[in-house]
Amino acid sequence: MRSSPVSRTRVAILISGRGSNMMSLLEAAKAPGFPAEIVTVISNRPDAQGLARAQAAGVPALGIDHKAYPNRESFDAALDAALREARVGIVCLAGFMRLLTPRFTESWSGRMINIHPALLPSFKGLHTHERALEAGVKIHGCTVHFVTAEMDVGPIIMQAAVPVLEGDTPERLGARVLTQEHVIYPAALRLVCEGRARIAGERVAVDEFEVATQALVVPGA
Ligand code: GRF
Repeated sequence: MRSSPVSRTRVAILISGRGSNMMSLLEAAKAPGFPAEIVTVISNRPDAQGLARAQAAGVPALGIDHKAYPNRESFDAALDAALREARVGIVCLAGFMRLLTPRFTESWSGRMINIHPALLPSFKGLHTHERALEAGVKIHGCTVHFVTAEMDVGPIIMQAAVPVLEGDTPERLGARVLTQEHVIYPAALRLVCEGRARIAGERVAVDEFEVATQALVVPGA
């Protein structure tokens, strides 16, 4: 007896750089039971390393050079048109280094998610690992959240924590965080596509998800 095919959400990934998170999503989406199909990768930088990696993985990859547009509105309109053309249901920002207009974020509200390399609401913006080290926090991490008009502020779907260790540099700490980004981004995308992460006001209610019970305490035993 043949099992019925899983209905898969059409997903676009927006990038600007190397695309390691993009690769983790592409990898996850290869699994037969994964509820998302990555139908396009778009970069605002046509020379982004991640575009070549997407092409090599056999995924349609498109450069939409923001420098070719006179303002944010016209760039966002081109991006929006490409997403609609590809009949995308969910948009994943994965190292997409371009501010989006409120009009764009509103039109994709509840359907666009982002990965941020810090435990929001701490350390919004850039250089998060440097700032975490300067602040002397003992626990750092990463966050997947829904995108709203305000940068790095939308409802949080999932977070992973890592210890900050003695002698850490931004690079060492960043690498430890990145490993967790590659774990939680596919997991969060799964929840969203399965309709198990529902926005309730400023929070996300998650249905039937196995919650890790072991707290991470640093320094600790
Ligand atoms: C990641 O750290 C992500 O959290 C941040 O930008 C970086 C992109 O890295 N938004 P990559 O292109 O996914 O390797």
